[in-house]
Amino acid sequence: MPPSLTLVVAATSRDLGIGAAHGLPWRLPPDMAFFKAVTLGAGTATGGRRNAVLMGRTTYASIPPRFRPLADRINVVLSRSADADASLSSAPDTHVFSSFPSALEYLDSRSDAGDVFVVGGGQIYDQALRLDCTKRVLLTYVSEASPSTPPIVCDTFLPDFRVGNLGAWVRRDAASLHAYLASIGAEAAQALVPADASPREHNGLQYEFTLWERE
Ligand SMILES: NC(=O)c1ccc[n+]([C@@H]2O[C@H](COP(=O)([O-])OP(=O)(O)OC[C@H]3O[C@@H](n4cnc5c(N)ncnc54)[C@H](OP(=O)(O)O)[C@@H]3O)[C@@H](O)[C@H]2O)c1
Repeated sequence: MPPSLTLVVAATSRDLGIGAAHGLPWRLPPDMAFFKAVTLGAGTATGGRRNAVLMGRTTYASIPPRFRPLADRINVVLSRSADADASLSSAPDTHVFSSFPSALEYLDSRSDAGDVFVVGGGQIYDQALRLDCTKRVLLTYVSEASPSTPPIVCDTFLPDFRVGNLGAWVRRDAASLHAYLASIGAEAAQALVPADASPREHNGLQYEFTLWERE
């Protein structure tokens, strides 16, 4: 049985832009902190289980070398290249698969695997959104906070799952977002989300944490 998948993604509110020139189009530390707290969750504190992060080879390569593999999480990288397999698989708890089903089968076989988070990029989000086992999207909306903020320019986008062609998705309220974060033991992430989940600003950017669920 494939694990239940949750996408964790930050995207522009305007057109769901997520990337530029193989990197992130912004520097937004509060969202990085949220990402870390969510994907770590309760970590090994609960029954020795480790959460997993599932990503494409391009996204893995975009993580600064000193931060990869992402610590204390099972890192699963999708690549069709034998070279990537050889070079990445030697990193601690990092596993390369040449197809989505084989990656999910592997995670299902790991009795120590906790929650599974799909963390990008565009190709991998697109494929994950087409799978019935993808149940949730933690979406951080990002936008320019004022006319003086340089425009955010993107070349990679999240498919617009909100419009109905990728199943029926509903945006949950702030209480549901908090309840979900508590349910996965991500109290550190909860602490970053205002009680009413209203937008906040940082360095000229506005950001807003949202939770979407498949109906
Ligand atoms: N805003 C956010 O939250 C966020 C999060 C993550 C990433 N990003 C951004 O997204 C961009 C990268 O996205 P992307 O779409 O270019 O690349 P990506 O999805 O990260 O990775 C694409 C690569 O994954 C491999 N792949 C894709 N589907 C596969 C499959 N079914 N089986 C096996 N391998 C598969 C291929 O690797 P090979 O070429 O090795 O075969 C492919 O080239 C960057 O700008 C990054 O910063 C943004």
